[in-house]
Amino acid sequence: NVPLIRLNTGKEMPALGLGTWQTEGPEVTNAVREALEAGYRHIDTAWFYHNEGAVGKGIQQAIDKGVVTRDDIFITTKVWPRNMNRQTAFGIIKNSLKELNTSYVDLVLMHWPLRRARATADVYRGLEDAYNKQMVRSLGVSNFKPAEIETLMQTAKVKPSNNQIRIHPGFNQDNTVDYCKKHNISITGYSPLGTGTILDEPALVKIGKKYGKSPAQVAIRWQIQRGLIVIPKSTHKKRIVENFNVFDFQLTDKDMLEINSIKQNRIPDFWG
Ligand code: A2P
Repeated sequence: NVPLIRLNTGKEMPALGLGTWQTEGPEVTNAVREALEAGYRHIDTAWFYHNEGAVGKGIQQAIDKGVVTRDDIFITTKVWPRNMNRQTAFGIIKNSLKELNTSYVDLVLMHWPLRRARATADVYRGLEDAYNKQMVRSLGVSNFKPAEIETLMQTAKVKPSNNQIRIHPGFNQDNTVDYCKKHNISITGYSPLGTGTILDEPALVKIGKKYGKSPAQVAIRWQIQRGLIVIPKSTHKKRIVENFNVFDFQLTDKDMLEINSIKQNRIPDFWG
């Protein structure tokens, strides 16, 4: 009962997934397996996280236990573009498939825009090569602002189908969200709990109490109801389960407005 978001490639992406930034080794292997056992069908990783091998192991363990098949799940990874070009970016994706022990990934994102638009366009060509070779089912970007997407679209042959950006109730990214919605580019919000910094926000605590839900669950539900994809990160089974348990309640319009009016940028964000 996780909503599926239809991408502009026609593929469907589960609206809730497990984030794996800042976790490596056996810790993330266990978290991935536990998440799949808890019902998650979407796992988010990246070359830069240095954990694709460990994530792949967790997926394999769940497959071996009969919990899921590869085709049941949606895997996202990302290419770190610094010092990359079309050929090396393609090589990195090949390497990601090997690390993840899979013949394809569902989504590959360019992790950040490069300062030079031409360099960004060239790396993106490497992603397109992987797409054309059916190593990747959909392409996208991450940490791109509207102007950067606009520029990329001038040269891209495969339109990005997702932009993954940092979003939480104290950093709602309305501007980029609106732009992407208008252009049929889905949005994934990473660090939906503000990496744990927004859980004491009074509005989230108060609204959560009404439904018997935690502030984390309210923050996650808020993104789902905005039509966004959300990837909370945890390596603790209890929280992995808790973060998935957000489909048995609904925030009212009034709740949504109250969360929308939480003060923005209270915690300084490296992301402008
Ligand atoms: P841990 O991995 O030890 O469970 P974000 O998804 O915004 O990046 O936030 C991740 C941070 O929030 C991690 O430090 C994670 O810790 C913590 N966290 C994840 N889920 C919850 C939860 N349900 N309640 C409290 N803290 C959580």
